[in-house]
Amino acid sequence: MSDLDQPNRESEVIPVDPADPDPGAIERAALTLRAGGLVAFPTETVYGLGANALDPEAISAVFRAKGRPATDPLIVHVSSIEMAKELTSQWPATANAFAEAFWPGPLTLVLPKSPDISDAITAGRPSVALRVPSHPVAHALIVAAGVPVAAPSANRFGRISPTRAAHVVDELDGTYELLLDAGPTMVGVESSVVDLSGESPALLRPGGVTLEQLLAVVPEVDYAERKSSDEDVDAVAPGQFLRHYAPSTPLVLVDGGSALVKELQTSVTKQGIRVDVLALPEDPQVAARDLYRLLRSADKGEASLLLAQVQSDSGMGRAVNDRLFRASHGRVLRNSDPDTVSALAQLAL
Ligand code: TXA
Ligand code: MG
Repeated sequence: MSDLDQPNRESEVIPVDPADPDPGAIERAALTLRAGGLVAFPTETVYGLGANALDPEAISAVFRAKGRPATDPLIVHVSSIEMAKELTSQWPATANAFAEAFWPGPLTLVLPKSPDISDAITAGRPSVALRVPSHPVAHALIVAAGVPVAAPSANRFGRISPTRAAHVVDELDGTYELLLDAGPTMVGVESSVVDLSGESPALLRPGGVTLEQLLAVVPEVDYAERKSSDEDVDAVAPGQFLRHYAPSTPLVLVDGGSALVKELQTSVTKQGIRVDVLALPEDPQVAARDLYRLLRSADKGEASLLLAQVQSDSGMGRAVNDRLFRASHGRVLRNSDPDTVSALAQLAL
């Protein structure tokens, strides 16, 4: 049997105003969560597939719907710092500093968990990932549900995260009861994940809050540059496998400016291969917001090969590069030598 949930539910889509959601729609979604159902909802980063974090059966339904390995823990969404504290067994000064500075917002804090949080959510780890989303719809939903809401991004495991309701339908239709459609998300890439359960703060995933912003609040945050291989899985933070966020069309990164991108595109096109270049906006905030939509539409297009230019590695550019790197399985080209071009062409076959 497959570990993917076969779509078997009527999934209903309810349009809501992103700034001022209808209380009736929120109440229905909250009731669904409390009854053990799954609700897909927008956050400021990406859409999430939500379940009552205190309901073990709802949690396993989330893992089945996504085809997500049980070893990959979920983020728990709460509505306030107080609610977050109740789910932890320790609340260090750094947690307070980060929470005061960035919540509600696109930051996830990993902290020692309270016994109320099940091993299914944390994949057996002693720590739990918590965040207070700023999206009015997410916030209203958590308040109305009155329970913490576990929610991974609403996509099949390893695939591109959804920034629009239509993406959620494409990925997971039939596995959830309700989808709250509030239009496109604002940040576009997932929250930054900071681990506060170890000796010093560590950025596990760059995201909506930049490393520079984190460092301005707590001057020491470790950030291990991304791994270049998936081989050593145990050494990789959970959920940080290279195959993440991947389109089905092979994507290759180019580190060498737009001239090199053009050269590579021309050379491979001469071999009769259709190559599309991801047109990432120059402003890194806008690039982050549009990244997953551009990847999805390029993936649906005619090209058998996609190229994207490495972005400047600071601010939001770090998160964009991280996702591009994973989406490309770590393939980065730095020249247009004949060997490079033929290796590139090979990928399209
Ligand atoms: O922006 C976001 O964070 C979105 C929205 C829906 O909130 N959610 C999201 O969830 O991206 P997901 O499940 O796709 O990614 C959660 C990340 C994974 O990399 C996971 O491994 C990590 O958080 N994580 C969760 N619990 C953890 C823990 N106890 N220790 C370390 N990493 C953890
Ligand atoms: Mg995800």
